[in-house]
Amino acid sequence: MSEAESARAGRQEVWIEKYRPQTLEDIAGHEAIVERLGSYVSRNDLSHMLFAGPAGVGKTTAATAIARELYGEDWEENFLELNASDERGIDVVRDRVKSFARTSFGGYDYRIIFLDEADALTADAQSALRRTMEQFSNNVRFILSCNYSSQIIDPIQSRCAVFRFSPLADEAVEAQIRQIAQEEVIDVTEDGIEALVYVAGGDMRKAINGLQAASMSGDTVNEEAVFEITSTARPEDIREMVDLALDGDFTAARSRLDTLLTEEGIAGGDIIDQLHRTVWEFDLSDAAAVRVLDRVGEADYRITEGASERIQLEALLASLALDGRD
Ligand SMILES: Nc1ncnc2c1ncn2[C@@H]1O[C@H](COP(=O)(O)OP(=O)(O)OP(=O)(O)O)[C@@H](O)[C@H]1O
Ligand SMILES: [Mg+2]
Repeated sequence: MSEAESARAGRQEVWIEKYRPQTLEDIAGHEAIVERLGSYVSRNDLSHMLFAGPAGVGKTTAATAIARELYGEDWEENFLELNASDERGIDVVRDRVKSFARTSFGGYDYRIIFLDEADALTADAQSALRRTMEQFSNNVRFILSCNYSSQIIDPIQSRCAVFRFSPLADEAVEAQIRQIAQEEVIDVTEDGIEALVYVAGGDMRKAINGLQAASMSGDTVNEEAVFEITSTARPEDIREMVDLALDGDFTAARSRLDTLLTEEGIAGGDIIDQLHRTVWEFDLSDAAAVRVLDRVGEADYRITEGASERIQLEALLASLALDGRD
């Protein structure tokens, strides 16, 4: 973003907050989850809960919506949000839980503690958290949020009702984008909407932030603007790169990769994600698609373990070039 653009952004409210659903009913998608949560709320009988799922799909939103429905205007006094990764260890979490649990209640049986990024806690810290949950279970309900429930120790999982949030359906993202564009009176082309949905990959936060950023220039929001502002490679460019590799032209494929990484400033990890999401849309034989996915998995793992993105992507293209199309 240029300085002028960010100045404009500064004056404007952040749309992900402005359009954050306030009630369970307004949450897009997740019908089964919303229904289950609704019945907890209407019985006014919450258990501890674990929300697991990818970023930007409504976990925090669901937790705050529950608090609004239970406590109405008092919701902020009865809802404590903690982030496991920036609370510097379980002791800090425990102290804050303690003081929150001890203060007065304004007539409510229990208050809610929302612990974000619970999967950032070590197993030991989670054991301590488990004891804290038990100690205060009379007057506090925990809602834990994480990306990977496999990182949460079993004794905690078994004490929680587990809710698995999936990436949002493209239709849900599209509908929300159209709605916001209309309310903000933004001119968005059809290919712009399609690009936002593609960029989001089921992450509503990404879609809304992309729309807001792309609208800052004041021009029509089209495909071009969306891909540029979100530093996302066009699906065609990725497909061409893969095609070149599968045709055995490693040099050309590598130079496409270089353009994406260097000139367009796209992150290697994002290229891997895009490959993963779109490989079935490319016109590949099953065998080739399987091979691409296999290599994508390997590169993804190595990059997560700290390997160089560029080397892994080049190695991926090299192996496709060696094996060819069939
Ligand atoms: N299901 C949804 N329906 C409508 N808007 C949504 C939905 N999910 C996310 N959003 C929008 O995206 C923003 C971010 O969502 P939220 O904070 O709930 O994500 P999250 O699942 O908690 O992600 P993270 O794992 O990164 O914390 C919300 O403020 C809202 O604007
Ligand atoms: Mg969240």
